[in-house]
Formats: sequence, C-alpha cells, structure tokens
Amino acid sequence: MSTVAVILAAGLGTRMKSRLPKVLHPILGDPSLLWVLRALPRDLGGAVVVVHHGKDQVEAALEAWRNAGLLPCPITTVDQGEPLGTGHALQTCIPELDRLKAGQVVVLCGDVPLTKAGTVLQLCAAEALLLAMDLVTPGTYGRVLQHPDGRLSGLVEAKDATPEQLAVQRVNGGAYSLPWPALRRALLGLTNDNAQREYYLTDAVVAVAREIPVLVEVCDPEELAGMNSRHDQAALQAAAQRRIERYWMAEGVTFLHPGSTLVGPRVQLSQDVILEPGVRLEGAVVVGEGTRIGQGSVVADSILGPGVEVRPYCVIEHARVGEGSKVGPFARLREGTDLAEKVHIGNFVETKKARLHAGAKANHLAYLGDTEVGEGTNIGAGVITCNYDGVNKHRTLIGRNVFVGSDTQLVAPLSIGDGALIGAGSTITKDVPADALALSRTAQTSREGYASKLRARQKKGTGLS
Ligand code: UD1
Ligand code: MG
Repeated sequence: MSTVAVILAAGLGTRMKSRLPKVLHPILGDPSLLWVLRALPRDLGGAVVVVHHGKDQVEAALEAWRNAGLLPCPITTVDQGEPLGTGHALQTCIPELDRLKAGQVVVLCGDVPLTKAGTVLQLCAAEALLLAMDLVTPGTYGRVLQHPDGRLSGLVEAKDATPEQLAVQRVNGGAYSLPWPALRRALLGLTNDNAQREYYLTDAVVAVAREIPVLVEVCDPEELAGMNSRHDQAALQAAAQRRIERYWMAEGVTFLHPGSTLVGPRVQLSQDVILEPGVRLEGAVVVGEGTRIGQGSVVADSILGPGVEVRPYCVIEHARVGEGSKVGPFARLREGTDLAEKVHIGNFVETKKARLHAGAKANHLAYLGDTEVGEGTNIGAGVITCNYDGVNKHRTLIGRNVFVGSDTQLVAPLSIGDGALIGAGSTITKDVPADALALSRTAQTSREGYASKLRARQKKGTGLS
C-alpha cells in the first residue's frame, strides 16, 4: 500500500483565454503543473495527472520534464474525457489508483502552484486532512463547515450555499489526503444533484468524514491560491517572486531592485551574488559566489562560476561561464558556450557551441560558432567564424596565444596553430601552421593627388572610368 497523489488538470481554463492549457502557464518560467509536481515528496508510490483539455500538450510537457529529470516520482496520466466535475475526475482514476495499489490518496490541483513542499509532506503524512484558508472575501470558493471540535462536517459550493453558509469565511483549498478505500467507496456513490450538475469531489470528502474524522488545516492563502485568469497569474508570480527574493536575501544575495528581478524556482544562487534591476533568471541556473549580473540580463539553464561579471543587457542560454570571466555588455552566449576561467566576452559578441579556454578574449563585435579557442588567444573586433556553408556546420579550431586581427573571416573547417598571427581584414580559408603569419588581402595602392582629381570629375558629372 502506498501514498499516491492525484493532480487535477483536466479543466479548460476558459478565463485564461489561451491556446495553452491553464496548467502549462508559467510562474517565473516554470509551468504551474511543474511547480505542483516538484513539491511532491520523492517517496510517493506515484502521481496521476488527470488530463483532458490540451491533453497532448500536457503529456508532451510531462515527457520533457521526465527526460530532464525534473519529476520526483513516477507519473502517469488519465484522460478524464469531457470533465464533469472534480468528483468525476477522481472516478476516472479508480482503475489507475487500484493498479498503483494506493492506500492513501492526496489530491492537489494543477493550477495551484505555490503550495510548499512542507505542506504537501504534511498532507501526505496525515490520515484524513483537508487544507483550508480564511478569506475576508470568500467569493466562489466552497465553504468549510466544521464540528465544534474542528472536524470537518460539511463542504458547500458557493452556488449551492444558503446565505448563512455564504457568510462562512473558511474556504476549501481543494487539497485533501484521504484513505483510498473510504474515498473509493464514496466516489461510487456520487450524484450530480446540485446547482452545477457536476460530480463534486467535495461530496465524497464529506461522505468520508461521516465514517472517519477528517481534520481541517488552515493555511496561508498564498499556498492555496489558484490560477484562473491572467490577473491571478500575475498575482501568483508576484507572490512567488517575493517568496524567492526573501529566501535568497536571507542567504546573502543582494537584489538592487527587488520586485523588478525574476528568479525562477530552480535557480541556485550563492553568497554575495548581486542582481541588478530587471535581471531574469530562468530554468536550471547556478550562480557562484560574488558574481554580479548586470541590469536587464537574461540567464536561462546556465552555470555561472564564482566572481563572474555579467555586464548589463546580456542573454545567456545553455552556457557555462567560468570563474572570474567578464561578459558584456550586450553579449549573447548561446547553447553550448563553455567559457573557462577569466575569459572576456565583450559587447556585441555572439557565441554558440564555442569553447574558450582560460584567458581568451573576444572583446568586440564577433561571431564564434562551432569553435574552440585556445588559452590566451585574442579574437579581434569583427571576427566571424563562417561555420555554415548553407548545408553543413563546420568547426574552427584556434590554438593558444593566437592573435586574430580585426575583421577577419575564418572559413570553416579550419585549424589555426598555436601562436599564429592573422593579419586584420583577412579571409582565411586554409589551415594556418603554428607561429605563422597569415594574411589574405589585396595589396594597398595609394595614388597621390588622385582624390581632388576625382572630386573635380564628379562635379562635372563625368566620374571615373
Ligand atoms: C473546487 C472545489 C471547491 C474549492 C475549489 C478550490 C469542488 C466541487 N469544489 O472548486 O470547494 O473551494 O476547488 O480551488 O471540488 N478539474 C478537473 N476535472 C473536472 C473539474 C475540474 O480536472 O471535471 C480540475 C480543474 O482543472 C482544476 C481543479 O480541478 O485544476 C479545480 O477545478 P475548479 O473548477 O477550479 O474548482 P471548482 O470545482 O470550482
Ligand atoms: Mg469548476
């Protein structure tokens, strides 16, 4: 017998007005459903995601997260078919929960992203528990009714409630932990005899509460807030952001302009990191001690070592930046960029599948793609690796302590030996041996006195032949 989680995610999410299923809308870069799944304990017997609307997209996302190692436990999906209510959602899971030999079932909603892992753990450990919140304006939430000793006595949807019941401010957060045999029996007895003609899971929970005591835990409303509209999404993101900023500040991170900085839930920061205004860190990002990330920079799925300086307005994705390196301003490090220690990447430099060894520099206006640059090598302004012939990509291998003069095109495949010197303005199409000087440009001619002669002809409109 094991504890199995059921995540409800079949709803249409009409109010989001989107082609994207509601549960895939992101909060700080991670979809709501991923937040929910990541809060599950690792020792669960499994989790079942109930899908229907946008099923293909949700299943594709689950597959991608599984491949990326982001899921804490085995996850399967059940297609609810046309959703007929939360109780119907659980009814369609009966065969799957039986197959998983569920002893205890924990129900969560895929559109409630900010429930903390500790709260979910508490839910998993309970025998029979419902999470509730106290709201000044309880709105359309279901109302929680309790016995004098606190045990659950009833759950009433707002649309079915009497005026007295509507006045109750304790509302149902939609998260429960219940013994599967009792819940299973209750699900089989559900009817849709209510204002919405839905099969209510809440009716099943109340039926269980008639058999065994169901406790009510009142939580911080932020942990149970759902995402039903873009407004909710913005509010949830702001709450998540405050939570994450508070956490990292306590760990020694400076936010120069808290509130303008977006730091995702899978970002790992270190002591004395400084985040300037408008920085966005998304996905799996690791930032080492004392690293400063400049204003307006975006970093996704990347590792920045300690003592790195990212100057303003850089975009860094799927890259690694070694200790003490300097990047930007206005640099773009694309997938497969791997910078060793003390590398300098300056303004308007783009790198892709580029490995730069220690101390290499490309300080201005360059494109380095499918390339390896040796230790201490200097890449001049305007250097381009011509890595693509229209069909295939080719590599450029540049040795140590090479000097590549400005405005040089390196036509790959190409190899440049250690200590070589490439004259500015060259188009290099053949391998350059170590220590060689390579030049490929037409010899300059200067015709004295010719400039004024040319201008005189231009005025007459005859031009030069
Ligand atoms: C439900 C509760 C209500 C509680 C509220 C908390 C019921 C009857 N009511 O409200 O007491 O205050 O949650 O948020 O359970 N879903 C399905 N299949 C369905 C219907 C819904 O998967 O057939 C999913 C939705 O996608 C959503 C979640 O269940 O993720 C909650 O559904 P929603 O319609 O938002 O909640 P209510 O039923 O209105
Ligand atoms: Mg509903």
